[in-house]
Amino acid sequence: MSLPPTHPLVDGRTTHSALVTAYSGGRPARRPVWFMRQAGRSLPEYRAARAGTAMLDACLTPELASELTLQPVRRHDVDAGIFFSDIVVPLRLAGVDVVIEPGVGPVLGSAVRTADDVARLHDAGPLTAEALAPITEAVGLTVAALGSTPLIGFAGAPFTLAAYLVEGRPSRDHLAARTLMHADPDTWAALMAWAADVTGEFLRAQVLAGASAAQLFDSWAGSLSLADYETHAAPWSARAFRHVSDLDVRTVHFGTGTSELLVAMRDVGADVVGVDYRLPLDEANRRLGGRTPLQGNIDPALLAAPWPVLEAHVRDVIARGAHAPGHVVNLGHGVPPETDPDVLTRVAALVHEA
Ligand code: CP3
Repeated sequence: MSLPPTHPLVDGRTTHSALVTAYSGGRPARRPVWFMRQAGRSLPEYRAARAGTAMLDACLTPELASELTLQPVRRHDVDAGIFFSDIVVPLRLAGVDVVIEPGVGPVLGSAVRTADDVARLHDAGPLTAEALAPITEAVGLTVAALGSTPLIGFAGAPFTLAAYLVEGRPSRDHLAARTLMHADPDTWAALMAWAADVTGEFLRAQVLAGASAAQLFDSWAGSLSLADYETHAAPWSARAFRHVSDLDVRTVHFGTGTSELLVAMRDVGADVVGVDYRLPLDEANRRLGGRTPLQGNIDPALLAAPWPVLEAHVRDVIARGAHAPGHVVNLGHGVPPETDPDVLTRVAALVHEA
């Protein structure tokens, strides 16, 4: 299947945008930048718009999700919007009892641990177009408002989703998930296959509705050894990416603590690798053989440092990123909620003029 004729990558609105050019390995005239978690509590307009609405309800209200996506684009002059949603939204759409508790993260009504638990997930079947309608609608509204600025669609990778499903809530070391993959590999495989398809359908819906790039977040993959990643996570990340592999759209793969996993994460089907703040981009480029565009990797901690310190760091990130065949500047992880939004605006301007 190909993208619809009205898609921004097809009708030309975003085809030669700075973001898509850099993701394709080119050097656009304007160096692109966006910030993971650019929508959110760092913005007073976000806190005002979200007041009184639960996180997942906001994600499933198309006008609100669209407005929250657009807020940081208006304010910071960044080169992309990232769809306002969450990695657990497809779980909710599939009928899983999940909420996002403020200051905590995703919390499930009951953890998924046994073969029976996983079988019940499979009984819910694939996500229907009807279930995905709030997503399709929100993306459509957003893309219409963004014009020539690309929207990035995203989804959680199966391992990171499983880390929440098996534990039932956020955890530091994802012990329950890492135990299950070894203790009961068949149940693990069935869980990961389900997660790959649900998250892949969520990603595909965003791309078909107008997203110009697709990012898979495997935020917690860094808790795995390379061997466990390759055996127990990578095949299902590849399966998630296959849900968009027939569509001509660039894919990005990001995780934290993944310095040892970068090549494996590229090889599951990503065009671009997102690098966290722990590894300099010139070294990431070397590990990837000099043939993969990179995204990253300003240390979020430095957003709160004095401007001269932050400026020197941003310039260093830009210089190291110049080694890669394409570079989209970003943070090495999400914007901390207490960040002064004017600092983000200033960083975006610096990236554009440097
Ligand atoms: O601007 C953006 O990046 C847009 C949207 C976005 C959100 N979540 C909105 C959100 C994206 C890309 C995500 C992905 C996500 N969600 C990830 C992967 C990225 C990463 O940060 O590693 C993960 C692991 C989650 C799960 C999740 N959702 C967590 C850990 C939290 C934080 C809980 C808290 O309150 O500290 C959430 C909630 C969440 N997702 C918020 C936002 C804006 C905060 C909700 C609020 O404002 O109350």
